[in-house]
Amino acid sequence: MTPTGNSPKILVTGGAGFIGSHTVVSLVEAGFEPVIVDDFSNSERSVLDGLRTILGRDVTCYTANCNDSAAMEAIFQKEAVIGVIHFAAYKAVGESVRLPLKYYRNNLDSLILLLELMPKYGVHNLVFSSSCTVYGQPEQLPVTEATPRLPAQSPYGNTKAISEDIIRDTVQSPTPIKALALRYFNPIGAHPSAELGELPLGIPANLVPFITQTAAGIRSSLTVYGNDYNTPDGTCIRDYIHVVDLAEAHVQALRKLNEQNTDSSYDVINIGTGRGETVLNIIKTFEQETGVNLNYTIGPRRPGDVEQVYADVTKANRDLNWTARRSLAESLRDAWRWQQKISLK
Ligand code: WQD
Repeated sequence: MTPTGNSPKILVTGGAGFIGSHTVVSLVEAGFEPVIVDDFSNSERSVLDGLRTILGRDVTCYTANCNDSAAMEAIFQKEAVIGVIHFAAYKAVGESVRLPLKYYRNNLDSLILLLELMPKYGVHNLVFSSSCTVYGQPEQLPVTEATPRLPAQSPYGNTKAISEDIIRDTVQSPTPIKALALRYFNPIGAHPSAELGELPLGIPANLVPFITQTAAGIRSSLTVYGNDYNTPDGTCIRDYIHVVDLAEAHVQALRKLNEQNTDSSYDVINIGTGRGETVLNIIKTFEQETGVNLNYTIGPRRPGDVEQVYADVTKANRDLNWTARRSLAESLRDAWRWQQKISLK
């Protein structure tokens, strides 16, 4: 896809990350021109090769930390973007408990800098990467956006909740910003081309990359963290969404903001499939789809895990004209194809 000179430019912070890179592809497919900013602290430069293979051309990428005010100002001066999608943040739940100030400094300062620079350069549209972790364990399921946020389960989750408040308060001040905070559920899978996917650094904390690494023989066994929950098979329930569906939701969110003829607006929207799946069903579906028998054991509960959370997606369907289209089976097939590809390297 060759860029037309007048494709509207979108700043994608963290655009070399798992969700960011898939969103870059969806942006180009939708006629936008992404401008990536990434410090590659939690992503690999090979992602740019994957993007080039899929898109047939390079995507502008600045190597910079989003807390570097001089670097970020220079990018706003050089690139006439019409919107920002802000992915860049540290996101390891466990690490955030050990190093809370690293998370508060990085995740909050980068957002505040963006909110200061955007109005200065006439940029009004912001799509923010938030998380269902702000709900904690909801009392009602599926969880709606009206559900009060619960005290965060981790400093990481707290940075997401505080970020939402920072954006809301900024929008409510005389600052011309229109913002949507997308509360992701559990992103899984990979681009069907197997040119992009999840690249967990070290031992994966998340379920699906641990499954694919176990299936690939990188990990000897998967531990299922508890089977004594009050769920059909005793294991936790989550809403697993294909990363490409999630990427496409960001394009719809940008379009929504572009259409709004108001100076300021703010809203939060759940981005999930609306379906809850147990851990054991993820394992069973993976085995069925790949023909690989997974070596797993049942272990103790993981501290901080909620029992079950899955999305009410009525608002996303209505306000974004968006629905997750890919099945769990497709997500797991794509995750496995990606794992097989990177295991060959
Ligand atoms: C899913 C389920 C585990 C690993 C986290 C973040 C959240 C968001 C998504 C960023 C749970 C179980 C896991 C394993 C297991 N990230 N599990 N064995 O915890 O729902 O959400 O990632 O925004 O903020 O909190 O995802 O994939 O870690 O766990 O049994 O080796 O799989 O107990 O029930 P989680 P997860």
